[in-house]
Amino acid sequence: MTAMQNVSLGAHYAVHLPAPDDFAFWRERARGLIQCDVPPDRVSWVEPGGTGDLFALEGPARSEKRLPVPSSNARPVRASKRFLKLARNAALHSDPQRFGLLYRVLWRLQSNPRAMEDSADPDVRRIEELDKEVRRDSHKMHAFVRFREVGDDHYVAWFEPDHHIVRANAGFFMRRFANMQWSILTPRGCIHWDGETMRESGPARREDAPQGDPTEELWKSYYASIFNPARLKVGAMLSEMPKKYWKNMPEAELIPDLIAGAQAREAGMVAAGEREVKTIPESLAAVEQGIAACRDCPIADCGTRAIMGEGAADAPLMIVGEQPGDQEDQQGRPFVGPAGQLLDQCLDHAGIDRSTAYVTNAVKHFKFKWKGKRRIHQTPTAKEVDTCRWWLEAERSLVKPRVVLALGASAARGLLGRTVSVGKERGRPIPLEDGSELWVTVHPSYLLRLEGEACDEQGQLFARDLAAVRARLAELTE
Ligand code: URA
Repeated sequence: MTAMQNVSLGAHYAVHLPAPDDFAFWRERARGLIQCDVPPDRVSWVEPGGTGDLFALEGPARSEKRLPVPSSNARPVRASKRFLKLARNAALHSDPQRFGLLYRVLWRLQSNPRAMEDSADPDVRRIEELDKEVRRDSHKMHAFVRFREVGDDHYVAWFEPDHHIVRANAGFFMRRFANMQWSILTPRGCIHWDGETMRESGPARREDAPQGDPTEELWKSYYASIFNPARLKVGAMLSEMPKKYWKNMPEAELIPDLIAGAQAREAGMVAAGEREVKTIPESLAAVEQGIAACRDCPIADCGTRAIMGEGAADAPLMIVGEQPGDQEDQQGRPFVGPAGQLLDQCLDHAGIDRSTAYVTNAVKHFKFKWKGKRRIHQTPTAKEVDTCRWWLEAERSLVKPRVVLALGASAARGLLGRTVSVGKERGRPIPLEDGSELWVTVHPSYLLRLEGEACDEQGQLFARDLAAVRARLAELTE
């Protein structure tokens, strides 16, 4: 049977999406329809509860037509990486025409694989706009969700997204607030995290969310203390933080007064020579200054200095260890002691050039205890790793690696915000919320402690893990 024999001549098809953000479903159906040569003007994409595009309005009989099934030898569907990257986000937009637009462009890519490269093309421009608006909405969600305590250690936030971004951002909040129990209520559906599993529920109303809690005063005084007048750009602040979000943010009521008092405070800060307060770092240099000044956990007072990550600022691979050791603390660089030397040899053997990677640690200070004249490594606690995540996340968001390699359980926790078993997770990618992948393996210090057969066996497994990372990097970047 050929692909065409499946298709009723001149028929129109309606595809009913199970959820408005179900890109995977759209992709699978779109692939099948393209393989059956169904042109864009004969397909309607219908969202749950919606009427789909204008075409679907033309008659219910049409929406009931069964979709054609591609034959097993149908030709593969072509889609450029750029298309897939933008389409994944564009599919979350609230524009009811988005799935039709994506199908039209996918259809065009079959005869013109370079269609996405024409930035003057109206369809390409529209996909780019949708992608940008969705990314902006996600950014707002990350920045402006404010949890309020509702008792029993449970926190609830209210947020009004413009697009269908809630499910796509669940991972971000899960990692950021891994140890809390929380719910984010929105008119487009809700997500709930109990410390172990994520649950979804239907749309909520603003009245369902709490309006204030006892910690709010604390948060307001914290906000007032970190508000940095030297960095104040009122225009940018207002456009970044549209009024719509202010009502959910306890600190919003402080903003007019803080703006009014900013100039005076700035002058005061300059006069007093006050050190800049902690704000989200905008560069790796700012991260370095930040970790040097950070006193958020007791390890900050251990060792000689904070050790910053090093390597290419746009490296496709980020390698994350646990914490600097004795040698690293003395030399001021990550992975230069015995574990670092073993790591270098193994990377070399796997064909990974360390100088093209960004190498850092989950915790930035050397935690140790004295034994005679020797400083003996102490494993950081989960709390210490969690406290330092702020800096690791800052490095990751600036370098934007495609692949992240965690060496050992502390590194994996630093990246995921939860404890995982290295034995269970090694050898396969764990997707991260920004589209990159985490690969987990053992720490080279563990290999240094082994002897005999166990050492050979584990050495081979480590080499195999690195080879898999090397192969994946090649796939993603070459
Ligand atoms: N071990 C680590 O985890 N990191 C270093 O930088 C050195 C040893």
